Amino acid sequence: MPIVHLNGKNLPAEEACVPVLDRGFIFGDGVYEVIPVFGGRPFRLSEHLQRLENSLDEVRIPNPHSRAQWAALIQDLIDANGGGDQSLYLQVTRGQAPRDHALPENPAPTVFAMSNPLKPPADEILEQGIKAITLDDIRWTRCHIKATSLLPNILLRQTALDAGAAEAILIRDGYATEGAASNLFVVLDGQLTTPPKGPRLLPGITRDVILELAAAHGIPHREADVRREDLAAADEIWVTSSTKEILPVTTLDDAAVGNGKPGPVFKKMYALYQANKAALRAG
Ligand SMILES: Cc1ncc(COP(=O)(O)O)c(C=O)c1O
Repeated sequence: MPIVHLNGKNLPAEEACVPVLDRGFIFGDGVYEVIPVFGGRPFRLSEHLQRLENSLDEVRIPNPHSRAQWAALIQDLIDANGGGDQSLYLQVTRGQAPRDHALPENPAPTVFAMSNPLKPPADEILEQGIKAITLDDIRWTRCHIKATSLLPNILLRQTALDAGAAEAILIRDGYATEGAASNLFVVLDGQLTTPPKGPRLLPGITRDVILELAAAHGIPHREADVRREDLAAADEIWVTSSTKEILPVTTLDDAAVGNGKPGPVFKKMYALYQANKAALRAG
């Protein structure tokens, strides 16, 4: 049984309980982060903690911990679960209060964190790529906040799974924004392209890593709008996240992307990403 963190204590998952009046339970009133851990070390920790702080500010939940306290809590939980590669989930809700939409005056946020083993995507997926479908983006207009209320994302992802696809690529007003649980990259006219940050998408940490690697290794890249019709013209499409890393989409809406195989820019970026991870492991 994994060890989890709840409000200042580490304990076995089955012993961790949250009161039913917690606003996270009643309203989905909370924010979260998922931090990949390689070789017992959290990847891009300060960037994840900055995004957490931004999400908390946006939804007006006071940050219950300093950066140093977060770092200690996270490392403690990683160690309690045996180090190695993990996917560390943490969430902060507005805490317990009588049910009322209005914000409680002095919230006592609930802090929960857990860890799961992190396995890299299977070789077969990297060799063949995945299927994705396009769907209308039915989410709210503040997608830059990493909110725990994920019902639209859940329904979108399930629609994709029901169609035999692994991910949904979301379209809003004719533009592709991101995946249901990932960011979007396309190789278009020889340039690696990803939609610009803003309220339509989550500012993914993996997305930033990829843009940095592209800049450092001379891969032509840009942050620019991606129209729905650009997807059909793209030589490559990828989806990215902390746990999926970089996945090539080789079939979109039942049509082959490019030649239907993971492309050369993906292969180059995948190798760079793995080298980056290896450097973290080596300290
Ligand atoms: C909607 C959405 N966009 C993008 C991402 C990728 O973000 P990151 O690279 O920080 O994991 C996620 C991750 O879960 C997500 O849920």
